[in-house]
Amino acid sequence: MAINEPLNRKLRMGLVGGGQGSFIGRVHSIAACLDNRAVVTAGALSSNPERSKASAPDYDIHESRAYGSYEAMFDAESKLPDGERIDFVSVTTPNHTHYEIARAAVEAGFNVICDKPMTFDLAQAEALLETVSNSDVVFAVSHNYTGYPLVRQAREMILNGELGEINAIRTQYIQGWLRTQLEAEDQKQAAWRTDPSKSGAAGAFGDIATHAYNLGRYMTGLLPETVSCHLKTFVEGRRLDDYGTAVVRYENGGLGTVTASQISHGRENDLEIEIDGTKGSLRWRQENPNELIFRQNGKAHQIYTRDPNASYMSGSGAAACRLPSGHPEAFFEAFANVYASAFDAMALRGDGQTVERRDTVYPNIYDGVEGMYFIQQCVASSEQDAAWLPLKHDAARR
Ligand SMILES: NC(=O)c1ccc[n+]([C@@H]2O[C@H](COP(=O)([O-])OP(=O)(O)OC[C@H]3O[C@@H](n4cnc5c(N)ncnc54)[C@H](O)[C@@H]3O)[C@@H](O)[C@H]2O)c1
Repeated sequence: MAINEPLNRKLRMGLVGGGQGSFIGRVHSIAACLDNRAVVTAGALSSNPERSKASAPDYDIHESRAYGSYEAMFDAESKLPDGERIDFVSVTTPNHTHYEIARAAVEAGFNVICDKPMTFDLAQAEALLETVSNSDVVFAVSHNYTGYPLVRQAREMILNGELGEINAIRTQYIQGWLRTQLEAEDQKQAAWRTDPSKSGAAGAFGDIATHAYNLGRYMTGLLPETVSCHLKTFVEGRRLDDYGTAVVRYENGGLGTVTASQISHGRENDLEIEIDGTKGSLRWRQENPNELIFRQNGKAHQIYTRDPNASYMSGSGAAACRLPSGHPEAFFEAFANVYASAFDAMALRGDGQTVERRDTVYPNIYDGVEGMYFIQQCVASSEQDAAWLPLKHDAARR
């Protein structure tokens, strides 16, 4: 099969963020290029123009496409001929910068992959939705956990009714790296994540609970109704929450819980989801992502392993695999699956076709808005002693 049919060429990436000493920008570049469908062509890699240009060789970006700022990149790239210009922009910078960068990229006509949380606050997310709606760009949000083969497998099983009616979604995202006040030591990733002027209104809840909540929405499709949340800051001197639990009531009468922690000793990146249906239950953990457990009362527990050739694998689960079973696939591959789904749409757009932008395999602008509404309502609920607040947003209507 040709690359990126019907476009039949690699897509050109413009990376924003990912400069020396950063975390997720490198992951984006690896994920985008994993299937040979994209090439890192241009970059505005740091908030510091010198460091931005100095970081370009790390990505094999030619000096003529190494920019000092995202404004300079969009301006120069827009003027290049079709055959040279970047096709998409990956926004991998701290939260407070996402909106300006993503909006400018959309206005310049570039497709966007934006990291989560999508913006600094809900108002920005809604404004961005309007900008995207007035364009024809493909806009994805890197809720990368949706890219795991067994997450997609579970989603298809649930949507096919194999679990029956969904009664409960329990998610937890447990980390321990902020047990001490790392931000006081100027640790780069901790510093902006615990700064309300950069991270947004929430700490752990903006950073990781958004992934957990999104995963439940993605796997079940249940529509939210109301939320009650309690956030806490356990580490002295910290300015944002580092622990919290939200209870979500879904429209079908189901109940969900989302617990996020950054202060649990020894815990690394333990995102876990359990889903209870009237006919069966499921459990998946990102630290052991090649297994999905399915249980029914009175029957032996079943462990689905990631196996593209097994008859029990669903179409979308099998299609998300690259390797035979037993060869572990994980973070990079799942991230790459979000990219691959977005690339399918970008290739169609590049060929002049109209693309579906609401009901997509990859998390999109609507999921991004939902994530920001979730954060806003959790913070507001917590400030009102866990009052029940609405969690229904128009963005969730599919
Ligand atoms: N999807 C995931 O699993 C995941 C994981 C980690 C981080 N993230 C998200 O990715 C984003 C970045 O997080 P991180 O941990 O990589 O941060 P980081 O601090 O490690 O890196 C941020 C990079 O962005 C650069 N930058 C800042 N402002 C810029 C600007 N205006 N123009 C160009 N570059 C700029 C910085 O110089 C740095 O190189 C955050 O929104 C975070 O929530 C997502």
